[in-house]
Amino acid sequence: LMRLSSCVSFEMNIFYSCMELIKVEGSGAKVQKPIAILDSGVGGLTVVKEVMRQLPQERIVYFGDTARAPYGPRSSREVISLTEQVVRFLVRMDPKMIVIACNTATAVALETIRSSVNIPVIGVVHPGATAAIKKTVSGIVGVIGTEGTIHSKAYEKALREMDPHIKVYSKACPLFVPLVEQGQYNSAKARAIVHSSLVEFHSIPIDSLILGCTHYPFLTSMISEVLGEQIHLINSAEETAFQITHVLSEEDILAKVEAEPSFEFYCSGNKELFSSIAKQWLNRTVKVHQVEWGIVQHIV
Ligand code: DGL
Repeated sequence: LMRLSSCVSFEMNIFYSCMELIKVEGSGAKVQKPIAILDSGVGGLTVVKEVMRQLPQERIVYFGDTARAPYGPRSSREVISLTEQVVRFLVRMDPKMIVIACNTATAVALETIRSSVNIPVIGVVHPGATAAIKKTVSGIVGVIGTEGTIHSKAYEKALREMDPHIKVYSKACPLFVPLVEQGQYNSAKARAIVHSSLVEFHSIPIDSLILGCTHYPFLTSMISEVLGEQIHLINSAEETAFQITHVLSEEDILAKVEAEPSFEFYCSGNKELFSSIAKQWLNRTVKVHQVEWGIVQHIV
């Protein structure tokens, strides 16, 4: 135990001491607090990029649970429990808002997380559905996502609440997330998998396809190659960033325009792989800390 304890990094110590949810107190300094964004891995970076574009003055603290990705094949109970752990970690950073930038976690854990913290929490399913409703003309929409998201029917429910007449065709694409997590989103293997997974949409008259997993925008050009330019690809990131702006302005906690933002990235798996994907996707070098859940849980 002594030898293991000496391996515990600064970040692990933070987690180790944060088993209780800490409530965030409102104060005048709240505007300078970061927005916490989480995902099972690198997928949430597609939301981060859009937040950096629309809200360049905001601080961001990000957690990608890369060691435990993918969440898609896991049971709802497991996904709720993993999401709660990540939220506990992020709440230690004293954020002003939490963004669950993972459709799988949004689909099953959004309400649980909302009821466990006293700061605003938003997910990505509602924004994705809103963006699709704005875009579709025919009212026939496709949704692709992880097994967990598709099985939950979260998109069908959200879309039908907005338009009861909408027709929805859903398909799980479980091979996409591992490709992106391994940084293979530009490979020939990725092209073959995207093609064989989506070719059936050729015979379905959709005019829009919701990328119902935040990892999928990494594959946008390949998806577009298979489906053709005439199908609108709906990425929830842009609408999610609009909704973040809306929530922060309603609460009057938008960061001051002259504020100097800082970005903190944490991941639970390979730090070098995360950093290289983040650098490529965000077009900037980011500092990444690794949190080793395995050692933490072993000690606990
Ligand atoms: N980015 C997550 C989502 O939006 C991927 C889930 C997974 O890890 O399978 O669903």
